[in-house]
Amino acid sequence: MFRPVFLSALLIILSSNAQAQKDFVANYDEARISEFQLPDPLTTDAGEPVTDAKAWTQVRRPEILRDFTTEVFGRGPQPCAIRHEVVNENREAIHGKAIRREVDVFFGESDDAHSMRLLIYTPKAGQNVPAFLGLNFGGNHTVDPDPTISLTTRWVRDRKNETTKKHTATEAGRGTSASRWPVEMIIDRGYALVTIYYGDIDPDFDDGFENGIHGVFRTEMETIPPGQRWGSIAAWSYGLSRALDYLQQDASIDASRVAVIGHSRLGKTSLWAGAADERFKMVVSNNSGCGGAALSRRAIGETVGRINTSFPHWFCDNFTKYNSNENACPVDQHQLLALIAPRALYVASASEDKWADPKGEFLSAVHAGPVYRLLGTNGLGDKITAETMPAPDTPINEGKIGYHLRNGKHDLTEYDWRQYLDFADRQL
Ligand code: GCU
Repeated sequence: MFRPVFLSALLIILSSNAQAQKDFVANYDEARISEFQLPDPLTTDAGEPVTDAKAWTQVRRPEILRDFTTEVFGRGPQPCAIRHEVVNENREAIHGKAIRREVDVFFGESDDAHSMRLLIYTPKAGQNVPAFLGLNFGGNHTVDPDPTISLTTRWVRDRKNETTKKHTATEAGRGTSASRWPVEMIIDRGYALVTIYYGDIDPDFDDGFENGIHGVFRTEMETIPPGQRWGSIAAWSYGLSRALDYLQQDASIDASRVAVIGHSRLGKTSLWAGAADERFKMVVSNNSGCGGAALSRRAIGETVGRINTSFPHWFCDNFTKYNSNENACPVDQHQLLALIAPRALYVASASEDKWADPKGEFLSAVHAGPVYRLLGTNGLGDKITAETMPAPDTPINEGKIGYHLRNGKHDLTEYDWRQYLDFADRQL
């Protein structure tokens, strides 16, 4: 009885979403941006100016964090106890320079708890090293061609080629995203790399918040008002925090020096993870765009309305209130960056990635500056203003916020990694 009604309602929603996506025309013309005023990170909801670190930490930061939680990403589950099991280990990885392990981390202590699989590379030389932690799109086996890395058995996106078959990963996918994960360079620079397939935490499709850790924490989710229930980005971020819980127990890694990194939707995720969990010492947003580093009010390229239509499961349902209505949102994305202050933050854009609004990503970093300065650091540095967006391939990396516009497409490249490693050398 119930099911056919539910299915036909779902079909109606899906087809109207598809129509809205078809009808959407992105604006790329600066002259056509409607007038807007950015919410001030340094004025409280009661209209009081925030003039010292105490007022920021005790009043304003919690207000902004609350607004991102209830209006944008959604309220996630409370941290759960974790347990782990080492799945395999290769002590001669990366030409004998690294130890490679896979470790399952379980959300909860019960035997049947849901798990995510960490792929961990640590340099053989060095103990207690700093690490980069980031989610990957295709499965750990796509990060490096090494045939001893396990092939994910979880749901994967259909790549429409031989690397996936009916949403299952195949052997042909091994190493296919290696260009995004220059493991040898990271190891040579003295860092560990930890990566997890994001689908282990929450499969990336809209099923009404049923699968992944939505299902695991169903009872808890039902206590949260529907509009505020966590979306997939908050779920992935939650997984990153539980991975950090595990790293705190891993003797080969210094968990107080972990940089959380992500590309695109996973860049939105690294920002929210770093904003919500202050244990992350550094945060990297690579081409994160709308709902990530880019200012929503500019509505250049992808907009809030468009992202909520194409990806209804990424944010909480309250975020749809701001579809074509960005000015009504109590926060904008510069405040997401400000939540990371005074910790190290690197925002990167790509010149051809207009959909993600490179200028909006840069301006966001500029407008997070006042909070960084209030907390005694220099943000992007003293000479950088909204008018001085750097030319392609000229990184700004002297301050506590780094930024570059790479020449080229939406991607995570070796060039990007070199900038992050240089920045991390100074910051970690
Ligand atoms: C789409 C989406 C972006 C997202 C990107 C990605 O292009 O519109 O918001 O960042 O996918 O994650 O690859």
